[in-house]
Amino acid sequence: MKKHNFSAGPCVLPQEVLEKSAQAVINFDDGLSLIEISHRSKAFINVMEKATALALELLGLEGKGYKALFLQGGASTQFLATALNLLESRAAYLNTGTWSDKAIKEAKLYGDVIEVASSKEANFNYIPKGYKIPSDLDYFHCTSNNTIFGTQMKEFPTIDAPLVCDMSSDIFSRTLDFTKFDLIYAGAQKNMGPAGTTLVVVKEDVLGAVSRKIPSMMDYKVHIDKGSMFNTPPVFPIYTSMLTLEWLKNLGGIAAIEKENEKKATLMYSEIDLNPLFKGFAAKEDRSKMNATFTLENDNLKDTFETMLKEAGISAVNGHRSVGGYRASMYNALPLDSVKVLVEVMSELESKA
Ligand SMILES: Cc1ncc(COP(=O)(O)O)c(C=O)c1O
Repeated sequence: MKKHNFSAGPCVLPQEVLEKSAQAVINFDDGLSLIEISHRSKAFINVMEKATALALELLGLEGKGYKALFLQGGASTQFLATALNLLESRAAYLNTGTWSDKAIKEAKLYGDVIEVASSKEANFNYIPKGYKIPSDLDYFHCTSNNTIFGTQMKEFPTIDAPLVCDMSSDIFSRTLDFTKFDLIYAGAQKNMGPAGTTLVVVKEDVLGAVSRKIPSMMDYKVHIDKGSMFNTPPVFPIYTSMLTLEWLKNLGGIAAIEKENEKKATLMYSEIDLNPLFKGFAAKEDRSKMNATFTLENDNLKDTFETMLKEAGISAVNGHRSVGGYRASMYNALPLDSVKVLVEVMSELESKA
């Protein structure tokens, strides 16, 4: 039985993507496996070109001065790469969770970092609002979706400085004016593919403004010049990401998946709100459409609930250790039916209690 996979990442991918990528490992190009051919072969160059073009097209950023890169080192490497490439003297960060916190820590190695606001005092259960962003910044950094805490930014500031955003856990899930952003990065392992590559979308005109020497592997300009092939790229995660982006385009793009994501989130949160056994963790207005965090009010029901989840084929709804409780991650490839099954189990628990 196919499991209902609510994992926070790496996570569920479209079945057809899994099948095509598995097939490519056996036979991709004239009897050769995807992972045993040169990354400089025509067949793989086509993959890289298609993946980068699809990323820009889906975000509505083609022909607008942006480049898409598929890099290594995870989103965590982008915490320092963004600072190395953009931070000359002063940057501002919004602290909305563990990942922002880590990004701030790395940036502090390279310059002055101002934390404009933080929700740390409330264990990051809301998105700070009404904060002031100083002028004279090299950039402003935020995290669009807080995977661990289940909060999501609904609005982004309009500022003169470049806007940098870690979109690891909600990229390609909702329509936004992506031209607002000058640099977006996202690890592949939520809405794209397996871990091992990170999408970076950067507006070229924000680069080249720092005086430091940037190590080649950290230098966006080097990766742009080399078409993400300065060194051997992770071909399998990039190929799988290309297939997922193709799947998304065929579905109707971000606007189409956004409707599905809305349905899933509405169903999930209405159960959390209506069922007296459960309590949502995140402030209602800041709830994430990707990761719903909640607790079970009566600890005595924990074993029963978890047995019921298992019997229904529901996997990975355990919460992150810093929040506890449960977390249902509802990424693009998670079918609405999986959410229906989870909600049924939750309401059955109520009838048993
Ligand atoms: C929002 C966010 N940023 C950054 C990361 C770190 O990503 P990576 O493990 O690719 O370094 C994660 C991982 O879950 C994440 O959810």
